Amino acid sequence: MSRKILVTSALPYANGDLHIGHLLEYIQTDIWVRFQRLMGNECQWVWADDAHGTPIMLKAQQQGITPEQLISDVKASHERDIAGFLLSPDNFHTTHSDENREMSELVYKRLDEAGLIIRKTIKQLYDAKEDMFLPDRYVKGICPNCGTADQYGDNCESCSATYDATELKDPVSQVSGSVPELRDSEQHFFALSEFSDMLKQWTAGPAVQDEVGNKLREWLDSGLQNWDISRNAPYFGFEIPNAPGKYFYVWLDAPIGYIGSHKNLAARTGENFEDSWKPESDVELYHFIGKDIINFHCLFWPAMLEGAGFRKPTGVFCHGFLTLDDAKMSKSRGTFVAASTWLEHLEPEYLRYYFACKLNSNVADLNLNLEDFVARVNSDLVGKVVNIASRCAGFVSKQFDGMLSKQYPPELMKDYQQLVDAQTQIAEYYEQREFGKAMREIILLAEHANTYINDAEPWVKIKDDTKRNEVQAICTVGLNYFRIIMTYLSPVLPQLAQKTEQFLNTELTIKALDTPLTNHKIEKFKPLMTRVEQAQIDKLMAATAEQNKAAQAASALTGGNSVATANHEPIKSEIEIGDFEKVDLRIATIVDAQPVEGADKLVQLTLDIGVETRNVFAGIKAAYKPEDLIGRRTVMVANLKPRKMRFGVSQGMVLAAGPGGSDLFILSPDEGADSGMRVK
Ligand code: 2FM
Ligand code: ZN
Repeated sequence: MSRKILVTSALPYANGDLHIGHLLEYIQTDIWVRFQRLMGNECQWVWADDAHGTPIMLKAQQQGITPEQLISDVKASHERDIAGFLLSPDNFHTTHSDENREMSELVYKRLDEAGLIIRKTIKQLYDAKEDMFLPDRYVKGICPNCGTADQYGDNCESCSATYDATELKDPVSQVSGSVPELRDSEQHFFALSEFSDMLKQWTAGPAVQDEVGNKLREWLDSGLQNWDISRNAPYFGFEIPNAPGKYFYVWLDAPIGYIGSHKNLAARTGENFEDSWKPESDVELYHFIGKDIINFHCLFWPAMLEGAGFRKPTGVFCHGFLTLDDAKMSKSRGTFVAASTWLEHLEPEYLRYYFACKLNSNVADLNLNLEDFVARVNSDLVGKVVNIASRCAGFVSKQFDGMLSKQYPPELMKDYQQLVDAQTQIAEYYEQREFGKAMREIILLAEHANTYINDAEPWVKIKDDTKRNEVQAICTVGLNYFRIIMTYLSPVLPQLAQKTEQFLNTELTIKALDTPLTNHKIEKFKPLMTRVEQAQIDKLMAATAEQNKAAQAASALTGGNSVATANHEPIKSEIEIGDFEKVDLRIATIVDAQPVEGADKLVQLTLDIGVETRNVFAGIKAAYKPEDLIGRRTVMVANLKPRKMRFGVSQGMVLAAGPGGSDLFILSPDEGADSGMRVK
């Protein structure tokens, strides 16, 4: 019996290009979906652009266009990349759609009727100059917990504390640079806390990976807060029914966008999409997501679904982030590779195969090592897989008029069957998202095929007229190996699979493998795949650096993409020379740097400042690998009052520049400045 499966990938924001970090998830989804279809399951992939929210509204403003225009341009660009990377969603819709409005209103109405929407007046930061309430990421100030300056309104990069934007000290609007005021505002909250027991049970079950379940339990144990699902005008989104000036928060209607896209698809196919979303549905529902949006998909979303009388996901498949040559991709370092730039220089299937080799079912980050990438593609795909076909094809077309032998060599039938039987293990790996393991099994089969051809030496035998039949049989066996291997690889390499179908003049299906291909005419062989050259990688990275530089320059001019960058931050109020002299800045040598367990953003630094060593916790983990910092010199504030943090006492602070996150640069002195020197 074939399974009915509905799959989603996270919806990309409709305000920027897709990059290879996005592609990690989309390729993972596509391979899984294509695998399910190959196995004969009914598998639909519904997807969309995430088109609402403040960043999109502000970006459109900056560009002097309407948000509708912006999201439509971006959607067209996303669709080009989706096609370019051979992704096969059944539908790519947008959350700014009639279907999504209807479904969002329905969910809200059902939640409201069930008493799960709470209206509460709260104080919010208001930018009087711009006439708008400020979202958390649009206000910066001093952390109420540790006193670090320049922190966003939701959490502190230095001490990891989370807080409400209204708790920031000396808040500054990042939109206008003015000091915001507090105003009363009625917001709509979803009663998330009511779902605590249900979520404890659901997250302990098979729907989430173990590591994700552990994280969720921490959150659940510390208690769930009701969730503010409304935002004040101006906002680009759906206005809440009967609440003028209030809009659904983008994170409410984004996941509902999965249903909206499904509804839109159903209007084309005529299927009944509603059945799939009923609690008793026999359709399996899986969401592919990155580890940064676990809370939305494993807490808010299942609670919303349950509260509104819909079914919950069968599984949430969470993956880690992509690093490039062991570092986070960064525009300021010129390593932020756009999907379209990749396509200008390299084949999409190279990346699809490399990701497949590295993907597994856990949430660890995945590294794209460019040297390893070149080696794997060339050695596995070109050297092992495609090579099987190119070694056999010439003989078949030139010597046997394109015909395979009438009969498969009987003594090799057992071996043929073994390759066919390998599908059980390979399918199991695909199903479990252990793509790396599946690739290893398949490449072992390719090695087996190559060994067979090497040992059989058709190029020697062809010189002996009495061995013509034998040569035809060897090539028939070789091409049957190729057919099996390409069937197994077809979820990863759909284009190569299609070329193989043309060349072998047959469709690649699992069922067809039951019988070997014999007495069958194949087409003339055309090269199926070329090697990757280092020069192509060099060009890709040079073009990327160039584009990133241009994007950075543009963003500095316009004040950043969505949130103002450091270049745009307002200058703080004047200080006296005496104030400055109070700050004791010293050259410090980083003698040790270690990650801090339980703090994603912090690095523990041991700083030598000549007279003594200091222990400092710095929020620079996203920008630096701790080991890369050892031996570097930087500048520190040596007389900052020691601060007790969750992880120990921090005795000072290192100086860094940049907007934060991965775009952060610790300041390094010129040669000659030694540990302990006073900075004046
Ligand atoms: O994090 C993001 O990029 C969001 N746009 C993902 C949304 S996924 C879903 F819930 F819509
Ligand atoms: Zn702090």
